[in-house]
Amino acid sequence: MDYSKMKIPYHVGIIVDGNGRWAEEHGKKRSYGHKIGSENLEKISRYILKKTGIKVLSVYVFSTENFKRSKEEVDYLMRLFTKKFKSDAKKYQKENIKVVFSGRREPLSEAVLKTMDEITEMTKNNTGGILNFCLNYGGHAEIIDACLKIHHELENGNIKEEDISENVFPHYLYQDLPPIDFLIRTSGEYRTSNFMLWQASYAEFYFPKTYFPDFNEEEFDKAILEYTKRDRRFGGIDYEKKNP
Ligand code: FPP
Repeated sequence: MDYSKMKIPYHVGIIVDGNGRWAEEHGKKRSYGHKIGSENLEKISRYILKKTGIKVLSVYVFSTENFKRSKEEVDYLMRLFTKKFKSDAKKYQKENIKVVFSGRREPLSEAVLKTMDEITEMTKNNTGGILNFCLNYGGHAEIIDACLKIHHELENGNIKEEDISENVFPHYLYQDLPPIDFLIRTSGEYRTSNFMLWQASYAEFYFPKTYFPDFNEEEFDKAILEYTKRDRRFGGIDYEKKNP
């Protein structure tokens, strides 16, 4: 699809969902769904950041609540993250993509944290798009952590109460990124599950039925076509459209 003349979002969010059901429908174990999902994520994120003009992509790959899953599944996912961040670092580097992370470090293992830190460090000066992995991420936790940072700054006298505003608050979130314009959740579930509560306040939502491992370039193009039809008013009224 030719994206050059389209109204495209600046920041897209994807809630990765349906790996498990995809695997079950293919008669495989859930872990196989995560493996194929992780391969798809690498492909689709490179398409989004390199071929469409979209500048920031945030992907929800592990919520704080996901630690409640079986030990077997959590361990598998942690090994997969470690392996993929190690193997994909060079690919993102070559594509000039900057990789960042949002989420709490506790209780992630040293092995996962090490590969996260390495890929962050390797790609930190890249300018061709930002890929934000939300890992051990929770929207409530992020807001609390931002409040604690602000409290600390106030106590140390680095800022004053009157310095805090809606424009300043996002600087204290895990990553200082622009708001999410377009939020996609795959697999036909209609909820946002604690994802980027602050950043998605005016996002347009899109809920395709497709399971994540099948969410390919064609599916993404369809999503963007839907976005171009949305009328974003940010709480105001488009008077020109109302009274032409
Ligand atoms: C949702 O499917 C997926 C997850 C909980 C996280 C796993 C994400 C990946 C493997 C892709 C990212 C990988 C890397 C390496 C960054 P689900 O298990 O909730 O599916 P279900 O709802 O059908 O059970």
